[in-house]
Amino acid sequence: MSSPAPVVSVLLDPDWAAGSLVDDVRRGLGAKPLRLPPKWLYDDEGSRLFDLITRLPEYYPTEAERAILDLHGADIAAACDASTLVELGSGTSDKTRVLLDAFDATGRLRRFVPVDVSEATLRAAADMLDRRYPDVAIEAVVGDFTLHLGDLPGGDRRLVAFLGGTIGNLYVEERGAFLGALADSLEPGDWLLIGTDLVKSSDRLIAAYNDSQGVTSAFVANSLAVLNRELGADFDLDAYSYVPFWDAHMERMDLRLRSEAPQRVSIPGADLEVDLASGEEIRVEISTKFRPEGIRAELGAAGFEVEHIWTDPADDFALTLARLR
Ligand code: SAH
Ligand code: AVI
Repeated sequence: MSSPAPVVSVLLDPDWAAGSLVDDVRRGLGAKPLRLPPKWLYDDEGSRLFDLITRLPEYYPTEAERAILDLHGADIAAACDASTLVELGSGTSDKTRVLLDAFDATGRLRRFVPVDVSEATLRAAADMLDRRYPDVAIEAVVGDFTLHLGDLPGGDRRLVAFLGGTIGNLYVEERGAFLGALADSLEPGDWLLIGTDLVKSSDRLIAAYNDSQGVTSAFVANSLAVLNRELGADFDLDAYSYVPFWDAHMERMDLRLRSEAPQRVSIPGADLEVDLASGEEIRVEISTKFRPEGIRAELGAAGFEVEHIWTDPADDFALTLARLR
């Protein structure tokens, strides 16, 4: 049996990006301290740069998570009675193929639903997956996992995969809201497979987010290029330096851009002027690192019961399988 061509549903309406970006920019740059939400990092250029990051020698999370999937993909497929796999923030779905191969071998998987805000990346992934898994219906969704969980396809037993440690890019209150909304959108007995980067030495963390080739710095700076293009802003990208640091108290990487001189930036699309002092910083992303007890507590608070936590051989990264009570 062969599946029809991949279906791609677009839940982000054409004006949504502009409207939501304007709101986020007014909220984030209209008050101090300055910050931007990380979902705006992933235009075509940002997605390309993130893909390069996953191949950097210093950036261990991707290969660590892949190692766990290689070692335990078959265990995950055997443990879950899901016939639909949903992947949130799926990007290229590159590692997910390990999971899809394991599920394919069980013959149980009927449908794969990759969900991402980055439409071009998602469409390319959907085409690739459709060719590789002809017996699995590919139903891609261009959507925002903080807004559209209730609109995702259902009707059968689901496994939701949220890989890469992307949950760590949300603030703790956002994580609570996200996990609560996810629980509301699922049925008791549905599954969650979630990747989280683990707390480790600050040297390794800083190296992973301050690579020697400058790819991460370009990825973070691209957020300003997005504002220049989408909102007609006049950020001078050369006037900022990249400042990544480990916040030991919050146990998270904090990725900022520092203005090297006093400057006024105009953002006409958001009807905003921002004055930056010399040395003032804009936080572009956080990347929270976890401990197993914290993972259990956050999932438990949202109604998920942890069935298993696997780590890679170096204990750098965790993949947790949980079930909605
Ligand atoms: N899961 C992949 C990609 C991680 S990069 C991996 O493990 O390598 C984070 C991905 O999440 C990007 O593809 C980005 O476009 C997507 N993303 C970020 N914020 C999002 C949001 N609010 N809704 C949907 N996708 C989002
Ligand atoms: C997508 N996310 C899990 C990455 C991370 O490690 O927090 C994004 C990233 N930012 C800089 N490098 C990678």
